Order: sequence, then C-alpha cells, then structure tokens
Amino acid sequence: MKVTVVGAGNVGSTCANVLAHNEIANEIVLLDIKEGIAEGKALDMWETSPVNLYDSRITGSTNDYSKTAGSEVVVITSGIPRKPGMSRDDLIATNAGIVKSVTENVIEHSPNAKIIIVSNPLDVMCYTAYLSAKVGKSKVMGMAGVLDTARYRSFLAMELNVSPKDIQALLMGGHGDTMVPLPRYTTVGGIPVTELISAEKLDAIIERTKFGGGEIVKLLGTSAWYAPGAAAAQMVEAIVKDQKRVLPVCSWLEGEYGQNGIYLGVPVILGKNGIEKILEVDLNAEEQAMLEESAGAVRNVMSVLDGMDVL
Ligand code: NAI
Ligand code: 2OP
Repeated sequence: MKVTVVGAGNVGSTCANVLAHNEIANEIVLLDIKEGIAEGKALDMWETSPVNLYDSRITGSTNDYSKTAGSEVVVITSGIPRKPGMSRDDLIATNAGIVKSVTENVIEHSPNAKIIIVSNPLDVMCYTAYLSAKVGKSKVMGMAGVLDTARYRSFLAMELNVSPKDIQALLMGGHGDTMVPLPRYTTVGGIPVTELISAEKLDAIIERTKFGGGEIVKLLGTSAWYAPGAAAAQMVEAIVKDQKRVLPVCSWLEGEYGQNGIYLGVPVILGKNGIEKILEVDLNAEEQAMLEESAGAVRNVMSVLDGMDVL
C-alpha cells in the first residue's frame, strides 16, 4: 500500500511521520517543490525507524511525480499557510494554482488515487481539486471536520476532566468561523453532553472551537500542524485499511442537506473506495440555518475563485 504526501512543510511532514510511525502504509512518498526538503525530512524520519520500531519505507522527492506512481491515497498539503491577521480565504489566489497543478500531476501518475486535500481555503481547494482531477466525487475529499471535531472534543475533555477517547461528536459545514458544531450529536461515554455541562460553558467551547485555528495562529505566528497532520493520517488509515470509519469529511454535495454543487463537511463512511456513503442526519431548524450560513460563506469564496480564471 503506497501513500503520497505532497508538501513537506509543517502539516505534510507531520502527516507522513504519523503514517510511518503507525505503519499505516508500507510505502510513503513525501514530495515538495523546494529542492531537497522532502528528501531531507524523509531521510530524517526513516532514521527514526530503528528507534521507533517501524518498517514503513519513507522516501522523499523534489517534484518528481514518477516516484509517486501507483499511490492508493494522496494527501495534498502544498500551499501557503496563514500568518497572523490573514483569514484562510486570503490564501486562495496562490493556493488554487498550486492545488490545480499538483492534482493534475498526481492523477497522471496515480489515476486510481483517493485524494485528501488539506490546503486552505479547504472547501474551495477541494472544489479546485475536484474540477482538476476529473475522477469523481467519491475520490476527492478534504480534511477539516476531523481536525475541528478533535479540537471540540479536546476542549470538552479539558472542561469535563474526562478522557478525550470517550467524547464522540459531530461537526458539519465549512472549515471556517461558520463551522457548525452539533451539541445534540455530542456524547460523553454515551451520555448526552448537555447532561454534563451548562449551556453557557458549552457555548464558550463551541466558540473556542470555531476560532481554534486562529488561536494557534496567534500563538505560533503560523497555522497548526500536529493535530492537522494526525487528522489527515486518520483519514488515510480509514481508506487504506477499509475501516468504514464514520468521520466528518469535506464532500461534494448533490442535494444532501439541501445543498447542491458545493464542498462542505458532512458525516460520511470512509473506506477503500473513498467516500462510500454520505450520512444524512436530522437537523433541526436552527442547525439547518447554521449549515446554510456556512454554505453561504463557502459559496462566496467559490465565486472569488470562479472570477479569478485559475481553473
Ligand atoms: P508549510 O508552508 O509549512 O508547507 C507547505 C509546503 O508546500 C512547503 O514546503 C512548500 O514548499 C510546499 N509547496 C508549495 N508549492 C508547492 C508545489 N507546487 N508542489 C509541491 N509542494 C509545494 O505550510 P503548512 O503549515 O504545512 O500548511 C499547508 C497548507 O495546509 C496551508 O494552506 C494551510 O493553510 C493548510 N492547513 C489546513 C488545515 C485544515 O484543517 N484543512 C490545517 C492546517 C493547515
Ligand atoms: C487550522 O484550522 C489554519 O486551517 C488551519 O488550523
């Protein structure tokens, strides 16, 4: 099983390291456009294998896509990240061109690959890759919900002083400040979270989650990578091991949740064929309105892209 990670920066190298360390794929290729960086990081990671006791082979490549041929899954993290004061949407002009050319190269060498986009602005970069790859909606998806849900779960675990392992949650919508955490679908060891926490505290956690990416940007001067890299690796694992995981994934919608022709985060079954099924759960009027607001924000960015003549 071969997996490629494009972009050997903070998120890409972290993702590749998790994939190798956890032996999620037996062959991992890390590729970057910058001379030597992917080879250097891949070699450094491989040199941890005798210490960390894994045998996944990890190699690097400077923009040579022939090395990625036959990949089952490709994670695309190439592009620029946010700096303080920037929104994810400010990245669109640069990242759309990068995601388009990378996707075309990837598909030329791995026509059956499932593609997981990480580059921002996430939902619209998925749309860019979908139009560029021309391999169908089940094979082109984005990582955002796994990360945003992880942030939400980790904040709840801190507040309730319980293991994050026992917190199950669902978060939908775009990867932005209008994302839609769903307390009605949040449980702690099977107990509805609303039984364990005041409405005020839960609201504060939901607000913190929505701005969780920005909280890290303020602290670090650039965007997060440990949780994003691990979240992307979890999606890769679901596909390569055909786990049929139920995860929030940025998916192309054709009528689900009343949305058509847009990438948005929704719960799906993730397995060897990529997105195998979109799960449609009941949303009440308030939740549906929040999802529509989030979709509106994504459509605004889509229209910026459509006006830019990148595709
Ligand atoms: P980074 O700057 O550390 O790494 C990006 C890498 O992409 C660099 O090494 C760069 O040389 C490479 N690159 C640029 N153009 C390329 C091309 N044409 N081909 C191959 N490689 C190319 O950035 P970082 O922190 O790894 O973030 C990457 C992207 O992921 C950003 O757009 C960021 O906003 C996004 N992101 C998305 C998250 C999500 O939840 N979806 C979470 C965190 C980051
Ligand atoms: C994050 O949520 C910036 O999308 C990136 O950390």
